[in-house]
Amino acid sequence: MLIMCRTIKMALSRANSCRRYLLLLAQDNVEFRLPEIKSLLSVCGCQFQSPQEFNINSPFLVLDIHNEEIARRVMKRTVCAKSLFELWGRGSTAQELRASLTSYPAVHMKPFLQSDSTYRINICTFNKTLSQAEKIKRIDALDYLPFEGKVNLKTPEHIFCLLEDYGTDPNDIPEEPFHIYFGRWIADGQRGLIESYSIKKRHFIGNTSMDACLSFIMANHAKVKANDLVFDPFVGTGSLLVSCAHFGAYVCGTDIDYNTIFGQGKASRKHQKWRGPNENIRANLCQYGLEKFYIDVLVSDASKPVWRTHALFDAIITDPPYGIRESTRKTGSSKEVVKSTVEYAENHVPASVTYHLGDIFVDLLNFAAKHLVNDGRLVYWLPVYKPEYTDQIVPRHPCLKLVSNCEQTLSSHTSRRLITMEKVKQFEDKDEYAHLTEAEYSSYKGHNAFRNKYFSGVMKKIAQEENKN
Ligand SMILES: C[S@@+](CC[C@H](N)C(=O)[O-])C[C@H]1O[C@@H](n2cnc3c(N)ncnc32)[C@H](O)[C@@H]1O
Repeated sequence: MLIMCRTIKMALSRANSCRRYLLLLAQDNVEFRLPEIKSLLSVCGCQFQSPQEFNINSPFLVLDIHNEEIARRVMKRTVCAKSLFELWGRGSTAQELRASLTSYPAVHMKPFLQSDSTYRINICTFNKTLSQAEKIKRIDALDYLPFEGKVNLKTPEHIFCLLEDYGTDPNDIPEEPFHIYFGRWIADGQRGLIESYSIKKRHFIGNTSMDACLSFIMANHAKVKANDLVFDPFVGTGSLLVSCAHFGAYVCGTDIDYNTIFGQGKASRKHQKWRGPNENIRANLCQYGLEKFYIDVLVSDASKPVWRTHALFDAIITDPPYGIRESTRKTGSSKEVVKSTVEYAENHVPASVTYHLGDIFVDLLNFAAKHLVNDGRLVYWLPVYKPEYTDQIVPRHPCLKLVSNCEQTLSSHTSRRLITMEKVKQFEDKDEYAHLTEAEYSSYKGHNAFRNKYFSGVMKKIAQEENKN
């Protein structure tokens, strides 16, 4: 009885403090969507609450948010969601929808149905196309809603939407929708950024420049916000700095490649031989009016960080080399070390040795554990060989909690996983990777031969194709 009372009380207090919303999600990068929305709610100081289990392949996500202001702030950041609606009713049939809509509190509806207001109703279907006549039929069937305003198709004050969900299987589209929703449109997400920041139109690009959508997703998973200080230790052409600066963070990075940092050498564009005089990371930020967020980039080897012990970053967001389209090298020599002199230092080009993938992630997690602020996030890509992947191989660290792990398929046998970790514990010397037991940091090292496996997979495929012919 006591438990029942408490449950009812909790439900009532939630009903009073939260409104129910419906997110219409984009159908690309499906695994990245929920972690993005959760991270953005957290940036806005709100916890993710959903009244139902989310189907990872569905474009519909119902969630409870404290107020419309928070909901709008989430929409100002998301690149995974298309639109957000205040959910007024839902059901599996038109009758259920009607029952749900008529029980929606009139006080919440009234301000948007006034006689001196204008409105429009949109019909949005997923996995089915309706004719204009069918759409009008759907709108007419909503005559039980007390609309008093005037219809204005071009510039209405309020937009309402009826959304029908016909499932996710294009080969098995049902006659009737599985689910129908009705709500008031609140805001659209930032899908437009994908086009306006497209790397096709980017001033300075390289072979491995990160595409705009994933760069924004990474910045969102990292909870990057205005005035943060963000660092990318494998900065390349700075795509991740661009997305973080767009959200108002100050950005800096390092890369071992002198030509990349100074924008010199061969160009990556098809019809251009050499990089132009102003092709560099700063110019990329200038292109979008973000120069004021650019701190600097340095030539530096991530295996030997140059930062003083107390340097702290709000987020570390990076795409380390996989050794497929760029080399994985670090400074060092397998030969005897030559003694340094001033003359030697001036003209010296450091020797390099292979930087094993396993070591890259060991160093990266150690660096993040030391140089992130408390609650700061590390977001990075981990390449994996799919046939051997298990969640156990994802590197761990006692100072970092795993927040999300989302797969992006690269080929039939390889993928990369976007790993998001949060610093939950102050770094102490005993947390140095070298002191950790095998169980404490995972077996990614055993997975080390990603590069060999990648190429052996490619070779196998070519051989199979040749046998077929
Ligand atoms: C996958 S790319 C990063 C691409 C970048 N996100 C962009 O959008 O252009 C990896 C980068 O790591 C750099 N790199 C390789 N080994 C390194 C090391 N030991 N220290 C620092 N950077 C390194 C490469 O030069 C390359 O630019």
